[in-house]
Amino acid sequence: MVDMKKLAGEKAAEYVKDGMILGLGTGSTAYHMVNAVGELVRKGYHLQAIPTSNATEKQARELGIPLLTIDEVDHIDLDIDGVDEIDPEFNAIKGGGGALYREKVVATLAKEVIWIMDESKLVDHIGAFHLPIEVAKYGSKQAFEKMDAYGWKPVMRERDGKLFVTDNGNYIIDLHLGAGFDIQDVKEKVSGIVGVLEHGLFLNFCKRIIVGKSNGEVMIKENPNPAK
Ligand code: A5P
Repeated sequence: MVDMKKLAGEKAAEYVKDGMILGLGTGSTAYHMVNAVGELVRKGYHLQAIPTSNATEKQARELGIPLLTIDEVDHIDLDIDGVDEIDPEFNAIKGGGGALYREKVVATLAKEVIWIMDESKLVDHIGAFHLPIEVAKYGSKQAFEKMDAYGWKPVMRERDGKLFVTDNGNYIIDLHLGAGFDIQDVKEKVSGIVGVLEHGLFLNFCKRIIVGKSNGEVMIKENPNPAK
């Protein structure tokens, strides 16, 4: 069976040039890209990288990829990461793995962003996938109630029967908005709720998407007008 995520992850590593500072994404697709970056380091490329989660940091360390902290950089040359859903206007939802805050910081700093995925992530309208919101623990009940009052069907994320805690020590509230929700309206309202650290909307961030397909092909689509 074709491993679509591996196809996309390995293709993305072809955009890595010697000397770059990289953003390393999180998730099952980014996992393959990180392995491919590790292979480049093994071949002698001089790379440095910022991981977007503790899981990616551990993987990168094991592969011998030289790491930097976010405080040590003023720019990132290239960020490569996965998405949960993306529409034809390059509006994406991320954070299915709960790493959205660090992913947003790293993508915002990057000169160029590539999203990698299998073909199931391509949708006409985002929103069938839940929209993750990272919130501070203190006041999360009130933030949840506000989201509920907006009709966003919020659910506190759990793992193993306990509330899920992010790498930053916060909670995740997943919103069930449905495909075709008003993106700008939700973005503005959610940013105005006290206790919200970041949301999982990544609107027009990327320069290109790389999609692994079930027929074994890789589709690359350039964004003619990225916001960065
Ligand atoms: C992590 O928080 C996410 O943003 C992931 O990048 C996203 O969920 C895609 O993950 P997969 O590549 O595992 O589908």
